[in-house]
Amino acid sequence: MSQHRVILVGAGDMGGHHARAWAAVGQTIAAVVDPDVQRRAALAENYQVRETFSDLEEALARCPDGDIVDVAVPLKHHAPLVIAAARRGRHVLVEKPVARTLAEVDAMQDAVSRAGVVAAVGFQRNLSPGVAFLRDLVRQNRFGRPLLFTAEGFAEIRPKRFMHDAEDNNGPLVDLLGHYFLLWESVFESQPERIYADGFVLAHDRPELQQFAKKAIDTGTVVVRYASGDVATMTVSWGLSPKTRVPWVPERLFGPNAVAIGGAFKDFTWEGFTIIEGDQETFHPLPLVNPFALQAQAFIEAVEGRRPAPPSTLEDGRRMLRLSLAALQSIATGEPVHLALEPKEG
Ligand SMILES: NC(=O)c1ccc[n+]([C@@H]2O[C@H](COP(=O)([O-])OP(=O)(O)OC[C@H]3O[C@@H](n4cnc5c(N)ncnc54)[C@H](O)[C@@H]3O)[C@@H](O)[C@H]2O)c1
Repeated sequence: MSQHRVILVGAGDMGGHHARAWAAVGQTIAAVVDPDVQRRAALAENYQVRETFSDLEEALARCPDGDIVDVAVPLKHHAPLVIAAARRGRHVLVEKPVARTLAEVDAMQDAVSRAGVVAAVGFQRNLSPGVAFLRDLVRQNRFGRPLLFTAEGFAEIRPKRFMHDAEDNNGPLVDLLGHYFLLWESVFESQPERIYADGFVLAHDRPELQQFAKKAIDTGTVVVRYASGDVATMTVSWGLSPKTRVPWVPERLFGPNAVAIGGAFKDFTWEGFTIIEGDQETFHPLPLVNPFALQAQAFIEAVEGRRPAPPSTLEDGRRMLRLSLAALQSIATGEPVHLALEPKEG
């Protein structure tokens, strides 16, 4: 693998995970970009990075050898930063969700294809060995068909308030569900046909969120039917009152012959799955990988032409975003969204 130089944009939590991943795969961080001086200085110090900037344009001008731009900032900045990087001929890895609207993704795709650079979206969770483990068991017909996948997540209002801004990360149906849409598509090896959702803003009265002109839907249930006949559902809330802790419920996959129950999800990867068949219960441990490092490695391979594409492309990000937007549409209209009837992508 050659040496690449990464301009890391965003020195928050994800910036930290990405920095660790680049170091783990032997790559150099050329510059850290963040308007927050303390954060960017702390990350730069940890990874011996000399150059720090408050905005990407300056970094692009001053680091001509930074061939990769890694965008790990709130969602409203994704499209402009990716477009700026691509226009300067840099390969781009952007955190999920890819963008706020399909039009933003189209503009990103246009800039990337004009520049002939590689672009990837950070769905690192899908590189967790648990995904391939479940997919392989489904391929072997261990569960039988049809399948029901259930997931749940309940949390206090997010300390990162931009998660609640409908103009930014837009609540869990946009911010979180993309990971699950990709997981379900990967495990079922099928495309969604119909999505139905209901939900509301549970935290509508919280003073912490009054700053937002439009608060994101923070609570809902989403049901997706796949062409394979399988169904997946997630019930999620980020609207509970501060400091409320609700016991975690693992992801579960039910088939006529067997059930899989997710083990602890630590550092973005499952420690294993329990398979229940009749009265037999077996725990299958899985390797505790760093999915961010796998993502960084695969991205470099795509940049170097050693694989045709990164694990998650802008197109994948667009497909996941389209489902999130369809879920919000379903909540607004009270009707299911038939995905085949939607305007064709692209
Ligand atoms: N892949 C995952 O599993 C996962 C998990 C959590 C968050 N995310 C995504 O990662 C992104 C960042 O989330 P986070 O948790 O790191 O947030 P964070 O608040 O911890 O960090 C974001 C950082 O971006 C900086 N920033 C804001 N605007 C900027 C700009 N224009 N240029 C440079 N820096 C800027 C902020 O100052 C902050 O330091 C979000 O899009 C979020 O959806 C992904």
